[in-house]
Amino acid sequence: MPASPFKSSEIEAGRKLFATEWDFAFAAGTLDRLPPMTGVEIAFAGRSNVGKSSLINALTNRKALARTSNTPGRTQELIYFTMADTPLRLVDMPGYGYAEAPKSKVREWTNLIHAYLAGRANLARVYVLIDARHGLKDVDNAVLKTLDQSAVSYQLILTKTDQVKPKDLEARLTATAAAIAKRPAAFPEILVTSSREGEGMPELRAAIVRVLKERRS
Ligand code: GTP
Ligand code: MG
Repeated sequence: MPASPFKSSEIEAGRKLFATEWDFAFAAGTLDRLPPMTGVEIAFAGRSNVGKSSLINALTNRKALARTSNTPGRTQELIYFTMADTPLRLVDMPGYGYAEAPKSKVREWTNLIHAYLAGRANLARVYVLIDARHGLKDVDNAVLKTLDQSAVSYQLILTKTDQVKPKDLEARLTATAAAIAKRPAAFPEILVTSSREGEGMPELRAAIVRVLKERRS
């Protein structure tokens, strides 16, 4: 595992940011129901069932802030979470690539996801979650392309690393890093997480503190 690129003061600032209670703010099923483009938005995107909602719960130290489920298609709207003392807004997104859902629904979600990612001026960072067991798929690459074309800064997060042997995880990391090497808006470093075990949460919190600082300066 690579050494943490964060100073201990950044890890501490991240811990503090997420030590205060985060709350559900609102949900939007269509773009016209989104709130005005104020604040600093950070969105969590990824295939259905990759662990977006679970990651938000782990990040905010809450068991059931975001609704999770064993079956794909749980999150069906853009769900906003806020906290009193910060302009940050965390956005839990519906998953894409859920093959068993009705075609009209899949189209609706896919359109919503791409339109949101391409057209939000205050979207400071997108975390694109990739299941460590499965790696990047075509549907992921379509989302990365939208983000590259819109020049929205994004970083990949491997999820569910508790389900993968260290050697396989290393190979997955190398292959994924190679696959995104030429993508213009992608962070070259990939975060490694397990919401179940808490792995990577201090680093992700510290990364979010950096996003906030960049937006303020
Ligand atoms: P949609 O809202 O349907 O797109 O799914 P999602 O990406 O929000 O996934 P969700 O957080 O609902 O998690 C899907 C399933 O994966 C649940 O059964 C979780 O318990 C499981 N899961 C999430 N994170 C982890 C993890 O770190 N490790 C393991 N082993 N399972 C996880
Ligand atoms: Mg979800």
